[in-house]
Amino acid sequence: MIKVIINGAKGRMGREAVQAVNNDSELEVVAQCDAGDDLGALIKATQAQVVVDLTIASAGFNNTKIILNAGACPVIGTSGFQEEQVKILQALALEKKCGGLIAPNFSIGAVLMMKFAAQAAQYFPDVEVIEAHSPEKEDSPSGTGIRTAELINAARRKSPTKCSDNELLKGARGADLEGVKIHSIRLPGVVAQQTVFFGGHSETLKIEHNSLSRSSFMPGICLACKEVVKRNTLVYGLECLMD
Ligand SMILES: NC(=O)c1ccc[n+]([C@@H]2O[C@H](COP(=O)([O-])OP(=O)(O)OC[C@H]3O[C@@H](n4cnc5c(N)ncnc54)[C@H](O)[C@@H]3O)[C@@H](O)[C@H]2O)c1
Repeated sequence: MIKVIINGAKGRMGREAVQAVNNDSELEVVAQCDAGDDLGALIKATQAQVVVDLTIASAGFNNTKIILNAGACPVIGTSGFQEEQVKILQALALEKKCGGLIAPNFSIGAVLMMKFAAQAAQYFPDVEVIEAHSPEKEDSPSGTGIRTAELINAARRKSPTKCSDNELLKGARGADLEGVKIHSIRLPGVVAQQTVFFGGHSETLKIEHNSLSRSSFMPGICLACKEVVKRNTLVYGLECLMD
């Protein structure tokens, strides 16, 4: 049995993760941690091998350092990581010889949506991303939106068509990640949704993914817990553990 701590266990994702991990025959939850608890001490006391972090953007980086310094493997679902922070954590994981994952999205369908979007971007350089989440989400755009734009940029063979950036209302054209526009919708009732909208010659292509409930993220979390313990590098994106 792989010993797992859930951090952020009182939250919406954390509560589901406790159940999912406990329902997996290869995994067991040895502690539930939340704001105010001493995560480092809990890892040492329980000898946990993996910590799943589902907390808040402002705490994710520090929590991952605590996990690695205590010798456990981080499985990070918390959003809001900057590229520089990921590099620092990857270096720390190498030093500690710990496997780990930072996953902008644990849903297997969302990972496939990003893969298909990167594939389509080779042929359709004109593309915009529209993502929707609940109003409680702290950060915009979503980690998935950013990751999708990064993958599109890496895959595009041609520059996109130039368009006017003359906004009559500021923000009308969305955020810009090196030429890929990302539009963030925040509405009650939505869990997580993303459309990648391509335009071509007299044709359009939409790749859409919907997470209908938080349980859609649980198979990815369980898969990650089992994979990180076999590795000694920290990777970014669930696809790195799926292939
Ligand atoms: N990667 C994914 O697939 C995915 C999917 C959904 C949500 N998320 C992310 O997961 C995180 C949690 O989402 P949620 O909807 O459960 O949020 P939530 O607000 O319901 O829960 C967050 C929990 O973290 C706790 N917390 C806050 N600071 C903490 C700290 N320093 N240490 C320990 N616990 C702390 C809070 O008390 C709360 O119980 C968010 O960052 C969200 O964006 C990721």
